[in-house]
Amino acid sequence: FATRQVTRAAFGAAQRRAFSVTASNATKVAVLGSTGGIGQPLSLLLKLNPRVSELALYDIVGGPGVAADVSHINTKSNVKGYAPDAAGIKECLTGAEIVLIPAGVPRKPGMTRDDLFNTNASIVRDLAKHAAEHCPDAAMLIISNPVNSTVPICREVFKSKGVYNPKKLFGVTTLDVVRASRFISQIKSTDPANENIVVVGGHSGATIVPLLSQSGDKLEGKQLDDYIHRVQFGGDEVVQAKDGKGSATLSMAMAGARFAESLLKAAQGQKGVIEPTFVESDLFKDQGCDFFASNVELGPNGVEKIHPVGKITDFEQGLLDKCVADLKGNISKGVEWAKANP
Ligand code: NAI
Repeated sequence: FATRQVTRAAFGAAQRRAFSVTASNATKVAVLGSTGGIGQPLSLLLKLNPRVSELALYDIVGGPGVAADVSHINTKSNVKGYAPDAAGIKECLTGAEIVLIPAGVPRKPGMTRDDLFNTNASIVRDLAKHAAEHCPDAAMLIISNPVNSTVPICREVFKSKGVYNPKKLFGVTTLDVVRASRFISQIKSTDPANENIVVVGGHSGATIVPLLSQSGDKLEGKQLDDYIHRVQFGGDEVVQAKDGKGSATLSMAMAGARFAESLLKAAQGQKGVIEPTFVESDLFKDQGCDFFASNVELGPNGVEKIHPVGKITDFEQGLLDKCVADLKGNISKGVEWAKANP
């Protein structure tokens, strides 16, 4: 009986603690581009996340409509959609702690992510300007492609406004890790939930480098080549299957929501939260890459610790060399464009 009383008292205390953690961690999350293929399911998943207390949805079309729909879901967070004007974006971003940007055009069959540059560069620049002004301390999660270039563009905007914090700017590469885990599980007939493949580099083609050796997986010959190709070009499978109607949206929404959840967990005090993400990093700066995706430990202030690439095989070193060569160009393209088009 005594044990039961203690257990019950402990349970009550834990419940109160859990409640006070939730109550004292009111978190406003904004989605810019919330009406899109990614934006809608991402907004839905964020509405289901109890760590989010306020969900702010903005798009140049239909933000309030998506918000009205999502707001009927019976979870506690408040949802609001904003008008596509200066007052709307200001109100949407004010007080936001996390800003996810899936605004921009997706690929059509035959296009690379770099083909989106001309359109999406200015969309990300303009939204970054609003964020730098209205929520300079927010964590910025860039989904719009080409991520290898749009993240550097966001940095240049924040720098030009004097509010850049390298610990708070993230390119969302989670989908590459999600795919790498799913695809290896299909080969090995395992549960993908138990697979955790490290993926480093960037987020397009040859810049995506899965490091199978680090999880002890040994594929060889054609099977290895096919696996690497599938992870690097997995997005193309979706673009082709959708046949002109867009790129990955549902799996991307899940990946974006997972990354936001990890940031929220870390912000709310959980230790040891590690996600792969494209951040400003010293790992390959001497080779011209200011940004690089590797495993990053997250903390209350964003980036806590950037993990090195670690031990890799000669084959993986070959992939990494190709990655760095491409990535360097993608990053400087973004930086130069941002400087020429402030
Ligand atoms: P979509 O065309 O379905 O949606 C984009 C939305 O952005 C539209 O609702 C549009 O009205 C809105 N938008 C355009 N300009 C805007 C602005 N200035 N302010 C606010 N909203 C604006 O495209 P989808 O499929 O949602 O993809 C969005 C982006 O995400 C694309 O660039 C795509 O390449 C990228 N993506 C990134 C992935 C990643 O792993 N990081 C994976 C898949 C896609």
